[in-house]
Amino acid sequence: MSDSRELVLVLDFGGQYKELIARAVRGLSVYSEIRPGNMPIEEIKRLSPIGIIMTGGPSSVYQPGSPTCDPAIFGLGIPVLGICYGMHLMCHTLGGEVTAGGAGEYGRVTVTPENPVSTLFHETQGKPFEALMSHRDVVSRLPAGFRQTASTAVCIAACENAEKKLYAVQFHPETKHTDGGSEIFRRFLYEACGAAGSYKLDDYIDTQVGLIRHKVGGGNVLLALSGGVDSSVCASLLSRAVPNQLVCIFVDHGFMRLNEGDEIERVFSKRKLRFIRVNAQERFLKRLDGVADPETKRKLIGEEFVRVFEEESAKLGDVPFLAQGTIYPDIVESGGSYGATIKSHHNVGGLPKNLKFTGVVEPLSGLFKDEVRILGRKLGLPAFLVNRQPFPGPGLAIRVVGDVTEEKLNVLRKADAILREELDGVKNRPDQYFAVLTNTCSVGVKGDERTYSQVIAIRAVITGDFMTCDYAPIPHKTLGCISSRITSEIPSVSRVVYDITSKPPATVEWE
Ligand code: XMP
Repeated sequence: MSDSRELVLVLDFGGQYKELIARAVRGLSVYSEIRPGNMPIEEIKRLSPIGIIMTGGPSSVYQPGSPTCDPAIFGLGIPVLGICYGMHLMCHTLGGEVTAGGAGEYGRVTVTPENPVSTLFHETQGKPFEALMSHRDVVSRLPAGFRQTASTAVCIAACENAEKKLYAVQFHPETKHTDGGSEIFRRFLYEACGAAGSYKLDDYIDTQVGLIRHKVGGGNVLLALSGGVDSSVCASLLSRAVPNQLVCIFVDHGFMRLNEGDEIERVFSKRKLRFIRVNAQERFLKRLDGVADPETKRKLIGEEFVRVFEEESAKLGDVPFLAQGTIYPDIVESGGSYGATIKSHHNVGGLPKNLKFTGVVEPLSGLFKDEVRILGRKLGLPAFLVNRQPFPGPGLAIRVVGDVTEEKLNVLRKADAILREELDGVKNRPDQYFAVLTNTCSVGVKGDERTYSQVIAIRAVITGDFMTCDYAPIPHKTLGCISSRITSEIPSVSRVVYDITSKPPATVEWE
């Protein structure tokens, strides 16, 4: 990052939505980084941000060991926006009062701005709007110098000390469940922080090509390529920077969708890089034999992947550099902040530190997913790759609930292919959709025969960020068609169900 670049710090107190905040800020043309909430004040001063945003979090300010920040933050003269727990912490630290243990508010709630309208709510012109609330504690007395700027039926929904440029909201403007949330950030950035808004991706490719060449010199670079968006864009960027020095290893673990391994091979065999496909299907299946627990499955697949990759890279001889398609959220996730682990994600980027390489190249590590897609388009990757839906590292192995066998994988592959055929071209296509083999059998009737066979679940979600989602309202006619095709084209399936759960409380994947 150049010293002259405007920076907004997102201080993390364990909130699920910290990345959405940072991405919302970047989407408004201001560079943002997520840092731990207890970041030392000297470090903050050194970075000289134009604004600070304090995230929400699961704690209560009165809980022993709850995350805190250096109180001096509020005296730096830098505008601060506290969100949910960030609001509690700001008010508590500055002498206000937080009351714990009430009934709280969850879901979309009407927020009514107070007069005179806060600069944050100018876009709503003081009219009530719907906002996502997810809190138990509330601010019950404001610190000296603060005024209430919005309320709900049960709480102080926002407050501020405009003179000191300290702002706080109880709700979550970073989620799409809050109407006009982006405008609230825009007003904070451009009115309170006086941002110029100069952050853009245009010069990213040239800068990275230069940095990669400088770092690797004449050395060879090895990339673990999954065919997903991140590793594909990484491969493309590297093949532009060091085309004759790049080797891409694609480990086919056998948990890919129908024909997917061949498609990946077809695309990358044509590009300016050395492409090696490792067919490791059998050894992965053997490793998972009889394993039903989701977390164990994820761990074993991750470990086996590393083993295969180590073996293959050893065969190559002199390759001093490892490239990884790590993106910014991967770095934030592994930063060891205050959040709770919900699932351990496996990516091809998740390689151990003891691999023997002189250096690691991670040219996408400053970017969010949608920024990576923009870059992919600029690099000329085909649309089907750039717009690809997320596909988990452990692949179909975590979409077969319980233990995994080749037979089950084949059933799931067929069902998934039918689902994709039916949904790929529809208007208002869901953001992610796939089939799940539920590991449940049910009674059915085919012809005049009683059957007792597998239940397939369809999962289709609407989401912008893949961190929260709503189930997709697929028309019943389409659902009926999918169900009828799956049950008639796959003999061992006699029932199809549709998953109508949002996230939270469910997750996108079943395991
Ligand atoms: P969950 O199930 O956590 O999924 O709600 C959120 C998004 O992440 C994808 N996902 C993964 N991606 N490695 C990945 O690269 C993984 O292990 C993994 N698990 C889930 C999921 O498909 C959804 O888009």
